[in-house]
Amino acid sequence: MQPVEPTRAAPATGGTGDTGSATPVVSFDGVLAAAEALAAHLVPTPTWRYAALSDAVGRDVVVKHENMNPTGSFKVRGGLTLAASLGADERRAGLVTCSTGNHAQSIAFAARLAGTRAVIVMPHCAPSVKVDAVRALGAQVVLEGERLPDASAHARALAAESGMRFVDPGNEPAMIHGHATVYLELLQAHPEVEEILVPIGSGSGAAGACLVRDAIAPNVRVVGVQAMGAPAAHDSWAGDAEVARPAETRVSGLATGCGFATPQSILRGARGSAGNAGLAAFELVTDDAIDNAAHLLGVHARTLAEGAGAASLAGLLTRAAGTNVAGTAGVVITGGNVSVDEWKRLANR
Ligand SMILES: Cc1ncc(COP(=O)(O)O)c(C=O)c1O
Repeated sequence: MQPVEPTRAAPATGGTGDTGSATPVVSFDGVLAAAEALAAHLVPTPTWRYAALSDAVGRDVVVKHENMNPTGSFKVRGGLTLAASLGADERRAGLVTCSTGNHAQSIAFAARLAGTRAVIVMPHCAPSVKVDAVRALGAQVVLEGERLPDASAHARALAAESGMRFVDPGNEPAMIHGHATVYLELLQAHPEVEEILVPIGSGSGAAGACLVRDAIAPNVRVVGVQAMGAPAAHDSWAGDAEVARPAETRVSGLATGCGFATPQSILRGARGSAGNAGLAAFELVTDDAIDNAAHLLGVHARTLAEGAGAASLAGLLTRAAGTNVAGTAGVVITGGNVSVDEWKRLANR
């Protein structure tokens, strides 16, 4: 299997940029190695069909429950894979990163297992339930800045001062490999799936989905979904360079303010340096559509999805309404760490 060597485009203004070290190498072999390493810590998450949900969408839908993972989201796969790749010096130095919540919990969880220290810089907009969960996992939390790009700048400065290993929330090949294992499990268990909807913040999960699709199911369409009020990944994908955009969304997992070079080089497909098929389409959805999807998942799939976790279903509903696409769709509930505000909105619907 040929490794893919994405471009190292300069970070967008206010962005999180890249890791600043050697060219990252992302490959399907890396995904397989991640799956093997993760088997020691995680069980495959369940996939189910819910007849009433498929009826509501008007398509056959397979739902994958990544909200059932420890830490409550698919991100734990990335943190564990990254921790497994650390050298002895990095372990000694400890990890520093930035996040609005789920990547933070993933790194805190993985650092604890690896016996290393983690400092997580979180913006003030991060839901308190996620901040508390990170602390409970033993990581040090630093609250800095209003939005993720401010927290990112602070985390980089901390890493430069302290010598700790900066973990880039979107550009780390090991994390992309870990996140890709979601889609390896999905496509291996459900070869009948014709289209997969993937929520996008940095795009690391969607890049993983594309890597797996290219290797084992080349006819499957991977469709990205992002919040309309935070379209940095969408606009970076639609153009040729990573761009910064406002992150005006209630959905914390999707509130990234800039494109990330490594995933974008895969998501752009033939236009990107990886030369693969990339995303077939990219849906932008409103926060209200995401709430509606979370409600449907609660009612028909009896499961709790946070906004980012419900975004894939919101994208599917938008797509079902606007296009003639048919066939079995795979929807991944990427997280279930619902904030107090989300609980209230869901309860009052
Ligand atoms: C629950 C959830 N879903 C989706 C995403 C977006 O993932 P990515 O940053 O890999 O695009 C995130 C990001 O934190 C998340 O927490």
